[in-house]
Amino acid sequence: MRYLVTGGAGYIGSHIVLALLDAGHEIEIIDNLSTGHRKVVPSAARLHEVDLRDGAALAPIVGAHRWDGVFHLAALSIVGESMRDPLHYLEHNLTSSLNLIRSCTQHGVRKLVFSSTAALFGGPDRHDAITEDAAIIPGSAYGESKFFIERILYWADQVHGLRSACLRYFNAAGADPDGRAGEDHKPETHLIPLALDAMLHRRPALQIFGTDYETPDGTCIRDYTHVSDIAAAHICVLDVLDQRSVAYNLGTGTGHSNLDVLKSIARVSGRDVPWHAAERRAGDPPMLVADATSFTRDTGWTPRYAAIDQIIETALAWRTRHPDGYGDAASQVDVAGVMRR
Ligand code: UFG
Repeated sequence: MRYLVTGGAGYIGSHIVLALLDAGHEIEIIDNLSTGHRKVVPSAARLHEVDLRDGAALAPIVGAHRWDGVFHLAALSIVGESMRDPLHYLEHNLTSSLNLIRSCTQHGVRKLVFSSTAALFGGPDRHDAITEDAAIIPGSAYGESKFFIERILYWADQVHGLRSACLRYFNAAGADPDGRAGEDHKPETHLIPLALDAMLHRRPALQIFGTDYETPDGTCIRDYTHVSDIAAAHICVLDVLDQRSVAYNLGTGTGHSNLDVLKSIARVSGRDVPWHAAERRAGDPPMLVADATSFTRDTGWTPRYAAIDQIIETALAWRTRHPDGYGDAASQVDVAGVMRR
């Protein structure tokens, strides 16, 4: 089969590309490399360095082949950043997705898998795992942008017959168990890579944003899901799209507090993570844990790397072998900048 992956040079997208290539499919990638990395693109996958907001550049790529499906991951995706410039986030994510979805409907694409998010459920305090029936109340502009895109996909199906699967990822974490890809954001804002670098003394002590939440240890709880399990889920869902459009919550069903994550790093590495308490971060819901019962029932998917220690092991292995991430100029500047602060 032949698939197009937007954002295929990014963290989750690169793991999806590996899963698709491992399964024997032909892949092309669209990525503007604003946060993705040229070095993670396998030689077997063709990279189009194009911004989805550029409709004129996008159309010939979507129109070049009869794609068996499109995986849409390209987006701005940092919750905290979206609260500093919400209109930019909404404009960027909506414009790029509208261009892509319109182009898919014009060129006869039948299936699209969309990278949605647990940030749809960021509103009120939650103490249970989140099902697909839970009220959608995005707690951030980022989450809101993804919700709008889910609605655009609804109408693209109703009117044009473009089937879509909205996979609402919880917290993607870890790295390819074979070491072919890992997590390298610039700037890095995610808990696990920052905690690993603090443990390795490559950054100052970790700040824990909020220790007074109504959770057992006062810190936020997240459902860390191995990035390769998330990648596998994208392939599992394709068959469901033969029947209907769907939206699923995708996670392990187990929550870990920020302090639980630090304990896992200490268990796996034998070293403590230096940290101190800091103010809450805008847009952070106290608890996000998936109830993925529907997804497992409909697709047979179960996570292979469900234990937090397995996730940390793969993340640490990649981080240790790639201390500067993919080593492109921007990520080196970022590490140096953080070290100077
Ligand atoms: N955290 C810290 N200190 C840090 C970084 C993070 O305490 O230096 C905390 C956050 O406050 C939060 C938790 O660690 O409580 C996880 O934060 P991340 O930044 O790692 O991840 P988020 O939960 O903010 O967001 C991630 C993705 C989003 C996605 C969301 C879904 O980045 O795209 O998971 O749960 F929407």
